[in-house]
Amino acid sequence: MARRCSRATSQQSPVRRPTAAAILMCFCLLPSAAQAGLYTASDQITLLTRDNVESVLVNSTAAAVVEFYASWCGHCISFSPVYKSLARDISEWRPAVSLAAVDCAAEENRKICVDYKIRGFPSIKFFRAFSKEDSYGTNYLGFPRDISGLRHAIIDSLETHGEPWPPSCPPLEPISPAEVDVFFGTNPVQYLALIFEESRSYVGREVILDLLQFENITVRRVLSSEVSLVTKLGVTEFPSCYLYYPDGQFSRLQVSREARSFYTYALMRLPGVLRSGKAGLISSVVITNSSAEPWRSFNRTRVYMADLESTLHYALRVELAAHSLIKGEALTSLKNYIAVLAKYFPGRSVVMNLLKSLNSWLQNQTADHISYEAFREMLDNTAQVPDAALPEGERWVGCQGSQPHFRRYPCGVWTLFHVLTVQADSAGASNPHEVLSVMRSYVKNFFGCRDCADHFETMAREGLRTVSSPPSAMLWLWSAHNRVNSRIAGALSEDPHFPKIQWPPPEMCSSCHAASSDGEHRWNTNRVLSFLSSHFSSSRILNDYLEDESQVLEKQRQKHEQQLKLVLQRKAREASNSVTLPPSSSSSPSSPLEEDEEEKEEEEPDDGVAYEEDEVGEEAAAVREMEEKSAKPKPKVEGGADHQQRHKKPSFVGLRMREPQEDIVDLDSFVNKHFGAKVLQFASSSLVKQRTLQRKVEQEPRPVFGLSLELDAGVGMVGLQPIDQDLHAGFGGQTKRLQKRELAGRYFEEGPGPGPGGRWISVLSVGFSKLDVSLCVVLYFLSTACLLGMYLFFRNRLKRRRIKLALP
Ligand SMILES: Cc1cc2nc3c(=O)[nH]c(=O)nc-3n(C[C@H](O)[C@H](O)[C@H](O)COP(=O)(O)OP(=O)(O)OC[C@H]3O[C@@H](n4cnc5c(N)ncnc54)[C@H](O)[C@@H]3O)c2cc1C
Ligand SMILES: *[C@@H]1O[C@H](CO)[C@@H](O)[C@H](O)[C@H]1NC(C)=O
Ligand SMILES: *[C@@H]1O[C@H](CO)[C@@H](O)[C@H](O)[C@H]1NC(C)=O
Ligand SMILES: *[C@@H]1O[C@H](CO)[C@@H](O)[C@H](O)[C@H]1NC(C)=O
Ligand SMILES: *[C@@H]1O[C@H](CO)[C@@H](O)[C@H](O)[C@H]1NC(C)=O
Ligand SMILES: *[C@@H]1O[C@H](CO)[C@@H](O)[C@H](O)[C@H]1NC(C)=O
Repeated sequence: MARRCSRATSQQSPVRRPTAAAILMCFCLLPSAAQAGLYTASDQITLLTRDNVESVLVNSTAAAVVEFYASWCGHCISFSPVYKSLARDISEWRPAVSLAAVDCAAEENRKICVDYKIRGFPSIKFFRAFSKEDSYGTNYLGFPRDISGLRHAIIDSLETHGEPWPPSCPPLEPISPAEVDVFFGTNPVQYLALIFEESRSYVGREVILDLLQFENITVRRVLSSEVSLVTKLGVTEFPSCYLYYPDGQFSRLQVSREARSFYTYALMRLPGVLRSGKAGLISSVVITNSSAEPWRSFNRTRVYMADLESTLHYALRVELAAHSLIKGEALTSLKNYIAVLAKYFPGRSVVMNLLKSLNSWLQNQTADHISYEAFREMLDNTAQVPDAALPEGERWVGCQGSQPHFRRYPCGVWTLFHVLTVQADSAGASNPHEVLSVMRSYVKNFFGCRDCADHFETMAREGLRTVSSPPSAMLWLWSAHNRVNSRIAGALSEDPHFPKIQWPPPEMCSSCHAASSDGEHRWNTNRVLSFLSSHFSSSRILNDYLEDESQVLEKQRQKHEQQLKLVLQRKAREASNSVTLPPSSSSSPSSPLEEDEEEKEEEEPDDGVAYEEDEVGEEAAAVREMEEKSAKPKPKVEGGADHQQRHKKPSFVGLRMREPQEDIVDLDSFVNKHFGAKVLQFASSSLVKQRTLQRKVEQEPRPVFGLSLELDAGVGMVGLQPIDQDLHAGFGGQTKRLQKRELAGRYFEEGPGPGPGGRWISVLSVGFSKLDVSLCVVLYFLSTACLLGMYLFFRNRLKRRRIKLALP
């Protein structure tokens, strides 16, 4: 055992630095390599590489439009915003035609560009669906540099596509009167939308493609020259849109502008129209009392305080709880987050009192770290600040999902930050970045959905520079949110009852939408700004479903009383125990909070080991601080100073200096309590056990190594599950799982810093508690000393013999 352990320990010091450095280097290099080109994974553009070029361009079921560019070419750089906008503009068309790009300046892509005979940059080529391997695509010579021109070019290519037609692409040609007559006989849909237009107009075909992912509706175009249909429906305006129903009835679609985006918005939001693939989901959805929570009916056009408070509860009591020690950048981030909340959160007075006291406590912390437990005590107001409380538990209202894994917390995060940017603006904030930088850093350091955090960071890096005033901060967040909506529309995480749309839709703010003379959709940003100001203003936030303030305070008071009672009981028990035990062996006083921690850490064995050794000192200091605190209101049973002394420095150096027997017992209880028990069974059965058994009459049962290893493995696997599920882990049973996942996730996903290095090492040395390690060190030195002694002994004897031989 000694040898194994000494290997483990020796790996920790010399190897850690290079490993950490290597990991750090990887983290720094990877993103820069991926971002060398003009587009990122957030742009809804497929980035072609040698590995995926075949699957995208050859034999694909969708046609593809590919931009071949060089990242150094000026024209490519100035064209890239247009191409990105195009990708967003036609993101609904993806099943029929996808947008891709390849950076020919990258060494590894050279062969692709040579193979496709690219000579100048940028070049755009159209590849039909089911292209052969030897296809070079069709070059768009002198392609238009505006979105609508490009969109029309793509439609032209699709219309002349020929067989085999891309299966997801609906028919683009005009419908004939005969087809309309028999339409509902062969198509089991609820609506036939007819767009009447001139033959030159692209509106009809654009809307057809916009709706291709939606079920229960078919869109077709009718030319103005189709006299019989035009007269039958009495059409006088081109373009205009009519809805035809299975019973032969028809009606005109009411929109504020006769333009593509207005049709699209209106048709997508017709009752019964659903994104494909969501139909199965929706039939099984029961918005009733099937889940544990009752459904709270609400007005979709309003903001609810219950969502904001639930978001705070989840962020501060669940999400943060995954970080047992908060330090460095994360600590700064937390401080700023609470400061901004204390300043701008438009909460009820009890919540504001709590946020303010939390803020002044946090700003007062000068150490470079705090333990989550200390933070949690302030959050739960154990200091008994009058009239201050953050209600416990989640009560989603406007952020309810039709199923427990939809919406909720991420919805609350968006809502909270929109509210905060609006509050900062109306409070006349001077620094336009105040709220956004806090959001950015909170998301980066704590937000459980790591993919989301990465995407958000990319957006922030690109766009936050442009924010120059509090109103522009509101607008930036609004447009960033819309970019996310566009990117994840139709994703698995989308609640079919709350489809991702470009927000606000015309029925919420029709004047926000405008169209240029050529029918292109434009946001009227002035109107959007005033809409945001009023939609998220504190005076319009609804207080429905909130628990009464007095009730919240009463609950908090009861909780404290109960905790105090538990502590006193425990104290009494310990006092009676200590009569039968030598005083030095009794465990230190601990509050119910600590009990929680014990429980949690046993379930998360990696937590304790995950820190580097020098952090152990810090953690212990934090823990000691906490213990002192929780011990304060209680009568002191044993010598407090003695107790503090023993906990002062559980570092290895300190251990060896101290008296062995004392140390082992002390360390033992320390390990048991704060690092989860990860003691090898055979370790405890040998020397440790003998010694501790002499001293401890009863000993808490210890989980054995096998168990913690299993948990570790499980956690690792869960951590690799799709992130979507992370997002929506509900409260209660799922909370612990979420924390575990996040912890595991951090193994793989946390950015540069000392963290990952230490954690990787901890994977290697999994299962070795600090006790083992210290024992090993002792044993190692003992055996070394023994060997040395033997060596000296035999050498002396040999020498003496030689001398004897030399002196006959
Ligand atoms: C920072 C961040 C990044 C995320 N990144 C991803 C990701 O990369 N992938 C992923 O799958 N999920 C991501 N999510 C989650 C996703 O954006 C949604 O929050 C989640 O799917 C729940 O959606 P929802 O329907 O409740 O509406 P949400 O998008 O959460 O919006 C909440 C409410 O805000 C309002 N709203 C909608 N759009 C806007 C707007 N543009 N401006 C102002 N208000 C608006 C609406 O009333 C809406 O109901 C992210 C969340 C956050 C907070
Ligand atoms: C393309 O698809 C067809 C049918 O789907 C298949 O027979 C053919 O082998 C595929 N070709 C390539 C190169 O994948
Ligand atoms: C179409 O809508 C009707 C009425 O809302 C609904 O009953 C039907 O299930 C829908 N069909 C599909 C395929 O979603
Ligand atoms: C759901 O349960 C609540 C109470 O638990 C009840 O008041 C409400 O009527 C129930 N709603 C439905 C639709 O059953
Ligand atoms: C929702 O709120 C809006 C704006 O206050 C209001 O006009 C509308 O009538 C409300 N809808 C319902 C169903 O209460
Ligand atoms: C901040 O710390 C100082 C010194 O430790 C203390 O006197 C003061 O009361 C603290 N303030 C708050 C708000 O905790």
